[in-house]
This record gives sequence, structure tokens and C-alpha cells, in this order.
Amino acid sequence: MKVYIKTYGCQMNERDSEAAAAMLTEQGYEMTEREDDADILIFNTCSVREQAENKAIGKIGILQRLKRIKPDIFIGVMGCMAQNRGQELLDKLPHLDFVIGTGKLHMLPEIVNAEVKKRHRELQIEDDVSVLTGLGAHYKVSKEKVSAFIAIMRGCNRFCTYCIVPYVRGREKSRTIPDIMQEARELVANGIKEICLLGQNVAAYGLDGKAVSPDSNYSPFAELLTELNKIDGLARIRFTSPHPAYFNDTLIDAIASLSKVCKSVHLPLQSGSDRILKLMNRNYTSAQYMEIVNKLKNKVPKITFSTDVIVAFPGETEEDFNATRKIMNDVGFDNAYIFKYSPRKGTKAADMPDQVPQKTKEKRNQLLLGDLAKRCAKHNSEMVGHSYEVLTEGPSKRNAEKWSGRASNNKMVIFAPVSSLEKGDLVNVAIKRCTSMTLFGQIVD
Ligand code: SAH
Ligand code: SF4
Ligand code: F3S
Repeated sequence: MKVYIKTYGCQMNERDSEAAAAMLTEQGYEMTEREDDADILIFNTCSVREQAENKAIGKIGILQRLKRIKPDIFIGVMGCMAQNRGQELLDKLPHLDFVIGTGKLHMLPEIVNAEVKKRHRELQIEDDVSVLTGLGAHYKVSKEKVSAFIAIMRGCNRFCTYCIVPYVRGREKSRTIPDIMQEARELVANGIKEICLLGQNVAAYGLDGKAVSPDSNYSPFAELLTELNKIDGLARIRFTSPHPAYFNDTLIDAIASLSKVCKSVHLPLQSGSDRILKLMNRNYTSAQYMEIVNKLKNKVPKITFSTDVIVAFPGETEEDFNATRKIMNDVGFDNAYIFKYSPRKGTKAADMPDQVPQKTKEKRNQLLLGDLAKRCAKHNSEMVGHSYEVLTEGPSKRNAEKWSGRASNNKMVIFAPVSSLEKGDLVNVAIKRCTSMTLFGQIVD
């Protein structure tokens, strides 16, 4: 039987879809990239903003017709919205066969097998300690990719007041260092050159909810980076998404000194206003955030930063918003995911007074996007004339005669290949010209 998986949401969902594909193929199912070719359709969903849920519900809703024409197909929902809406999904979408929450991912093959056999409707959303098993399964690694995700921890204990993730992903659970090392070594043996460590609260790796005082220099995450850095044949280590609270000196030094850790850090800011940060329960001030950035900038002169920002959190005034605008320019983020605040049922912020009108949300969003485009154009033009180490990814999607790859600051670079070049090679590329999105260059020795 053929399985099609459609993924919404963040990299953790991409990773889970991969694990799901690996587990199902092991059971004899075949994966397909064509929806109309599949016997089993699985939607791996996201709940972080209303739009994300609506998109998936809309898509699954349309399939009611398909199910009438092809009553033998199976349709299932997994991921964060499955966790969040559970029974409601089965009630609302009568053509759904199964709903599997985030804590039950490892049971997917079993549930699909049982479904296929007896065709009853299944709901599995309780939390489960076995959720870390099977997470290391990879699907078709060596043939297609130079970069792979490793889920090192799951869940979040922080409860930022706007965020649904702690409710849909449960509490923090970390894998052990030997377990992660083994997965990383296997990936490298299969041709992977770059790993991206994933977790909803990735820098809290190994703490599993233990509180550490802000002045403590204890960082299990730094220990993990140090171990991974020793793997021969591995070229690059990235990670996402860290909360700034865990950036103590141990972690900052590890990022600065470990050669394989990319000198481009994604550090979610959310807001530049101390008043709003407090309402968000982020537990840092804009000054503390800047202190981390400045420490890293001092230790790693060429470091770049990207971030997540929410505009129009409840009560956000013009002044609060301008503080966000200012700090974004001060840090000089060259990439930012800018989100319009979306109230999530069950979170504290959804019930806060002074929800900001849609028009203001739109306006603030546009202003930040405009600032970002300007900074990007400037950063890219500053890269012209310099050489960067690029991890090659093979022929470019748009023009097969050119190759693409990423500089260590994560920017996409397009260049003409030389003979004997292989996917996954590290080459130096001199940047010759750029657009606001892409850099074009030439391989140099
Ligand atoms: N664990 C990650 C965030 C995962 S959610 C971290 O803390 O960095 C990804 C991003 O979605 C968040 O950083 C935040 O900017 C945004 N986000 C989360 N909840 C949101 C909401 N209710 N409305 C708008 N954006 C939201
Ligand atoms: Fe959500 Fe905050 Fe946890 Fe990130 S740290 S997942 S924003 S609660
Ligand atoms: Fe969405 Fe779940 Fe990721 S809510 S952002 S898919 S952790």
C-alpha cells in the first residue's frame, strides 16, 4: 500500500514525518509523493497559529469527496493539531480514519496496520513516555541529502503566554548523549555532512525541566555540542530553536570555540519591549537579550543572527512596537520570521485585554518586513567581493547548469560547478553579485 504524508508546521514536524515514513516503510508500506496515487493519506499538522490549523482543516475537509469516490482510502491526522483538537476532529470530519497525537508517534505503524485490518476509527492522544523511541529513524538519507535533522529533545516547559506548544508537545524530554552520538555517526557514515539539532526548547537539552539559575554555567547542551564536534567527517552543526534563557557563558563559549558549530544563530526575540516581554512570560529583558548578542559578537566577529518576532501581542502600543523595531535594527538580524499574534484557545494571552485590531497587526507586520528586506539587501551586498565556505547541495532547482549550496551563515549561494565536484563537498566561493534573496559566485581554490 502506498502512503502520502503532507507536513505542516516546523522542522520538528518535518523530522516526525521522516520518522513516520521510515517506520512505515520498514513495515512494508511504500511512500509516494503523489496524493492521487496513495492508499493512505496522513496529515502531520501544526497548531501554532490559527491559520496553520485552518489550512490543514480546509485541506482535509475537501477530501470528503475523494473518500466518497474512493471509499477504500485511509485518511489520518497526526501532529500538534491532532493533539490539540483530538475528538473534535473525528466529530467534525466524518471521513477521518485516525487521529494520532504527538505523544503517540511511535505507535503510527501499529495503528495504521490495525486500521487497515479492521477499519474502525482510532483516537490516540495520551502522553506516552515511549515517545522518544523510533525518533532516530531516518528515511532515504544518503541518496538525496547532505543535511539531516536530529531530534535531541521534545516538549517545552516554558509556557510563554501566547504559545500552544507546551500543550500540544507536552513536557521536556531529552535523549541521552550516546544515543544522539550514535545517530549522528550513522548519518555521517551515510554521507550526511551537516546536522541540525531540533527541539522545541533545544538549548534546555538535558535539563528536562530542572531549573538552573541564570548565573549558573551548567549547560548539558554545550556538552552535547562539544561531543558532536568531535565526529570526523561531519562538517557543520546547526540547532533550532533555543530560548535565550539558556545562553550562559558555557554555551556562548561553546558556540564561539567549536569549529563545526555554525556562526549563525537563531535566537527568538519575540519583542523588544520589556513590558511586553514580561506579559509574554519570556523571562528576559531587551538588555539581557542584547548582552547575549554582544557577547557572541565580541567572541565571533562575523556571527549573524536570525530571529522570531510577534507583532501586535495584546496591549502592544506604538511605543512597544517601536522598541521591537529598534532592537531588530540594533542586532541587524539578516533573517526574521515575523508573526502576527494569533490568539490560541487555552493560553493566557488569549484572555488578555486590549487585543490589537487586525489593521494594526497588518501595518506593523508590513513595517517589520520592509525593514528586514532593507537589511537583507544591505547584508547581501556586503558579502559581494568576499569568499565564503559553501556546503554544496547539488544542481540548483531553478537552473540545472548551476549548483546551489549554503554559506555557513545560512545564505543560499548559486555557482557554476567544476568537474569532480560532489554533493556535500565544502568549497570556497567568491561572491560576485546578489539579489535580495540569493548570492551568485564562483568557486575559488
Ligand atoms: N520553541 C520555539 C518556538 C516555536 S513556535 C522558541 O521558543 O523559539 C515558533 C514561533 O511561532 C515562536 O517563536 C513565535 O514567534 C511564534 N508564535 C508562537 N505562538 C504564536 C502565536 N500565538 N501567535 C503568533 N505567533 C506565535
Ligand atoms: Fe512556545 Fe515559549 Fe516554549 Fe518556545 S519557549 S515553544 S515560544 S512556550
Ligand atoms: Fe506547529 Fe507543533 Fe511545530 S504547533 S510550530 S508543528 S511544534
